[in-house]
Amino acid sequence: MQIFIDSGNLEKIRELNDLGVIDGVTTNPSLVSRENKPFRQLIKEICMIVDGPVSAETVSEDFDGMMKEAVELSKIHKNVIVKIVNTPQGIKAVKECTRRGIKTNVTLTFSAVQALLAAKAGATYVSPFVGRLDDVKEDGMQLVRDIRQIFDNYDFGAKILVASVRSTGHVLEAAKIGADVATCPAEVIENLFKHPLTDAGIKKFLDDWKKVRDKGLDK
Ligand code: G3P
Repeated sequence: MQIFIDSGNLEKIRELNDLGVIDGVTTNPSLVSRENKPFRQLIKEICMIVDGPVSAETVSEDFDGMMKEAVELSKIHKNVIVKIVNTPQGIKAVKECTRRGIKTNVTLTFSAVQALLAAKAGATYVSPFVGRLDDVKEDGMQLVRDIRQIFDNYDFGAKILVASVRSTGHVLEAAKIGADVATCPAEVIENLFKHPLTDAGIKKFLDDWKKVRDKGLDK
């Protein structure tokens, strides 16, 4: 399973990309609003850092506006994936993007039938929002299971990009289900590395190595 960082923060993107654990990036208008940089410039700079898909979201609500933005965004860099919301106008735009060879990520997907429509329109990625479903006491990961089953039933080419990830548990479940990608906030990616027994093990090894050194045997 690929891991994308869900962020518009260049510093965090660079830091985690340097560790070699980032396969791509997703952004959204809320994440972009936290950064003090013109949107298109920000996307361009992210593409310079990460050699992988970078999702940039359209904000128009009508087909013509979405298409205009999709064409512009796709010209920023070859790795740009145009994010389009899962609405009737959005699905229409996804179908047209598919026809024109523009890659898409269908966002704000909250049901398996919405995902089915996105896949049928030729979406490159479909993003179920698991955390926001959990927030309203629904089962976000069950949605991912349902989408996996539907996409496998019909060999849809669309990739399942698990979004609105809140915990390492979400990442684990996504991988067990066979999702293609989990896009995670930086903090969740950082937590993937952590285990208290790893920390305790390192401390014990270093303490014991000090004994070896103290005896002058560390040669
Ligand atoms: O980028 C889309 C998604 O990951 C947003 O997550 O935490 O705002 O629900 P969140």
